[in-house]
Amino acid sequence: MPTIKEPTVEEKIKQLKEMREKSKTGGGQKRIEEQHAKGKLTARERIELLLDQGSFNELDQFMVHQCTEFGMADKKVLGDGVVTGYGTIDGRLVYVFSQDFTVFGGSLGEMFAKKVCKLMDLALKTGAPVIGLNDSGGARIQEGVASLAGYGDIFFRNVISSGVVPQISAIMGPCAGGAVYSPALTDFVIMVDKTSHMFITGPDVVKAALGQEVTFEELGGAMVHAQTSGVAHFIAKNEEQCMQIIRKLLSYIPNNYLEEPPAVEPTDDPNRTDKDLAHILPDDPDKPYDVKEVITRVVDNGEFLEVQPLWAQNIVVGFARLNGKSIGIVANQPAHYAGALDINSSMKAGRFIRFCDCFNIPIITFVDVPGFLPGLEQEHGGIIKHGSKLLYAYCEATVPKITVILRKDYGGAYDVMGSKHSGADINYAWPTAEIAVMGPHGAINIIFRKEIAEASNPQQKRMELVSEYRQKFANPYIAAQKGYIDEVIEPAETRPKLISALESLATKRELRPTRKHGNVPL
Ligand code: HXC
Repeated sequence: MPTIKEPTVEEKIKQLKEMREKSKTGGGQKRIEEQHAKGKLTARERIELLLDQGSFNELDQFMVHQCTEFGMADKKVLGDGVVTGYGTIDGRLVYVFSQDFTVFGGSLGEMFAKKVCKLMDLALKTGAPVIGLNDSGGARIQEGVASLAGYGDIFFRNVISSGVVPQISAIMGPCAGGAVYSPALTDFVIMVDKTSHMFITGPDVVKAALGQEVTFEELGGAMVHAQTSGVAHFIAKNEEQCMQIIRKLLSYIPNNYLEEPPAVEPTDDPNRTDKDLAHILPDDPDKPYDVKEVITRVVDNGEFLEVQPLWAQNIVVGFARLNGKSIGIVANQPAHYAGALDINSSMKAGRFIRFCDCFNIPIITFVDVPGFLPGLEQEHGGIIKHGSKLLYAYCEATVPKITVILRKDYGGAYDVMGSKHSGADINYAWPTAEIAVMGPHGAINIIFRKEIAEASNPQQKRMELVSEYRQKFANPYIAAQKGYIDEVIEPAETRPKLISALESLATKRELRPTRKHGNVPL
């Protein structure tokens, strides 16, 4: 009888090595070259660029699809179009999935989704961030409803993981149809300029349904989502910069909601005062200035990672450090719409505050707000419900909340923007602060309408009344008398004051009534 020679251990190891190598080629050399020609890296190259060198451990490298329709039975690619695994960023554990456009256009089928779900489950159990690198033609058409189910399973996990572990999405190619909802459910979306697109229905459908001709870029390019829709939080000029943004972002964020944000050894003097801060504000209180100048002068080493810098520019949000500790900053921006709150700025700051609160990041608010933006567009667009999102977020947040009123703080915006009444812990005001029901001009036009009309020189009378109103009401002292302001501080001492307040609040614990969850005005 002829004997069958069983493979030796060495031969089995050799086979494993060959399979590993094969899986690394994804859809093959030709498609890798096509990917490079489009200015895009491959799924694995992206992971290499993102993670600490040599830290990646791949999972499910040999998973393949089970589809037999449309001739798919003999078109199996090891890994099935998504590379998943874990590694480290600055030594901290993260989970990554990277869609491989060279395999069926990165389209998502049943097994592909299983790989992503397994990864998300592990991240949730171990309390580590999930980073998704998206480059996909969407639901794998050949797999039909199994693909839709796969997306649904991912969406479910996005929601369950929200507020437990940070979730970051990089869009590095197409992201279309319902597939966009996974990134949209995550905390931050970074889009690579020119090579990434996000839309619910593509240019062809837009043309068929509405007769409008639009390009991919005009419909859902990175600039559109960074500037107009607010879907993207960051725009990267290329893939390398995209990875740098993810790494930087994570440096401010803890791995999960039970941990404190990572602190760094401070290199900026906590007692540093800055006399020039007082001169950023123009003498004329109706003149604009750039609030980012205030922010960068106060925080450690002038370093500020602005989130959504191009959208709703009338409010500035982002991460920085004070004496090495991570903080989230919210600031009205007088250089845009005079810093007035509107629909978009309320949504932008509201979501940012909720993120900070989820992950134990204290919130510092710099206020210079003339009120809510008036007008039909805002009222009909729902400023009432959208503005209340910001109010809700401030009241809901239990992390340390410190507010500094720089100049104007008028009307409903006073209550909304981190006031004592919305639960702020320490409220400072500069002596230049003006806290009142409304600005002097609007106020005197209402309460002194008759006197102005009857005056021999109405213009002169108006100026006198404005000046009188400013002295009486538009200052921080009435609010300080009532304890709504804890301390009126010199602008120069803002940094040391904030640092000592933050330190005093480090042990803050604030409990809210037990409930299932609040009903944020969506
Ligand atoms: C299966 C797909 C695919 C998909 C692309 N491919 N999308 N295979 N299912 N959804 C395959 C192509 O057949 C092609 O295979 C390869 O990927 C590369 O695609 P190309 O079209 O050659 O590349 P390109 O010209 O760069 O165009 C990329 C693209 C385009 C813009 C993404 O492929 C496209 O429009 N795809 C369909 C997008 C789409 O409508 N998806 C469904 C969205 S709805 P070969 O073998 O020929 O090279 C959706 C619902 C999710 O996703 C719902 C969740 C609830």
